[in-house]
Amino acid sequence: MAKKLWEKNSDVNPEIERFTVGRDRELDLLLARYDILGSIAHSTMLESIGMLTHDEMETLHRELRNIYEIAERGEFVIEEGVEDVHSQVELMLTRKLGDIGKKIHSGRSRNDQVLLDLKLFTRNELKNVCQSTKELFDSLIAQSNSHKDVLMPGYTHLQVAMPSSFGLWFGAYAESLADDMLFLQAAYRMCNRNPLGSAAGYGSSFPLNRTMTTELLGFDSMNYNVVYAQMGRGKCERNVAYALASVAGTLAKMAFDACMFNSQNFGFVKLPAECTTGSSIMPHKKNPDVFELLRAKCNRLQALPTDIILIMNNLPSGYFRDLQIIKELFLPAFTELQECLHMATYIIERIEVNRDILEDKRYDAMFSVETVNRLAAEGMPFRDAYKKVGLEIEAGTFTANKEIHHTHEGSIGNLCNEQIVKLMESIYGNIDFEKASTAENALLNK
Ligand code: ARG
Repeated sequence: MAKKLWEKNSDVNPEIERFTVGRDRELDLLLARYDILGSIAHSTMLESIGMLTHDEMETLHRELRNIYEIAERGEFVIEEGVEDVHSQVELMLTRKLGDIGKKIHSGRSRNDQVLLDLKLFTRNELKNVCQSTKELFDSLIAQSNSHKDVLMPGYTHLQVAMPSSFGLWFGAYAESLADDMLFLQAAYRMCNRNPLGSAAGYGSSFPLNRTMTTELLGFDSMNYNVVYAQMGRGKCERNVAYALASVAGTLAKMAFDACMFNSQNFGFVKLPAECTTGSSIMPHKKNPDVFELLRAKCNRLQALPTDIILIMNNLPSGYFRDLQIIKELFLPAFTELQECLHMATYIIERIEVNRDILEDKRYDAMFSVETVNRLAAEGMPFRDAYKKVGLEIEAGTFTANKEIHHTHEGSIGNLCNEQIVKLMESIYGNIDFEKASTAENALLNK
């Protein structure tokens, strides 16, 4: 039996095959379950328009659900000589069911199949990323609340600047994740549209019922225009990559802070010993390697949108094989970010905070603005107060009054964490993950 869907008379050159198949046989494994879900929906629709009998559909569904279980157990393989996941599933069906298996490809192309698989895969991965992002958010808010009274120096230009607090520091990264969640929400919504039925990119002469597959697969709507549906390949990945990059940016910055604050010269935080690594030569070392690796991985993730753009930027409309390469960068990105999110949450929950940083005289000068503001509030013109305190500092006569009263919204004394939590809830709580999983379970008879 020919293993190429398109194989007719001439043989395939093995070198050309190796080059064109590339890493598909390994990467497409991530898409297997989604390819099968798509086939269940597609064959249901084919039956509804008289392209399959009811019995044929039932037979196909039974076998597709078998294959789904094989994939769930991690036992699905793309055999030697088979190009991709789409070919492998069809091969398994035809081996088992003969002509019935050969009927399933009516009204579709691998171009819309891979589009669909990517959307279903991404939808599911985004759900996990959103969940992990929310978990880190919750840990940061908890740490912010329990350290709201612990002061630390704030820096500009890496010069001691003004009083800050651990309440502010942890809370800042929480609020940053709330904004990142907005990107994730947009990515999810954009991804959640059905491309199936666009076939090779120009539709089909069969009277496909695309509304039906849209509902069966739990999409919000379809990508209506078939040419646009195909244009979504690469565009969807790029936009999702922006959302991942946004979260990664927050993590990378936080990781840098944590490494720096953990250094002996700062000593603001202590990473739990189990989260540090030793040196082969210096017996005293407890290195923050976890945060350093996390920083590098997250910086690399921020290159993902650009990498995707460079692959697809100057392609005209219509399918091109170039798009296959995006999978190599895009599919592994979710696991990478997930691992970083889990590590970050683990450490943030266990990080120790130094409550006595400000006993150290070297930070006294950061209370200068407090003193200037106090004098100004008592009636001295701001510029005169500024000069008086500046001269005192230079003369070494300035004494810091460490009582601070910051009351406005978002400041040390008024973190607005409840508002930040509400903001996060209003975004995260508004993404309807249920709809997708309910539809997928129904296709699987679960
Ligand atoms: N492996 C291909 C991809 O990822 C599947 C689609 C193949 N379509 C084609 N016209 N060669 O793009």
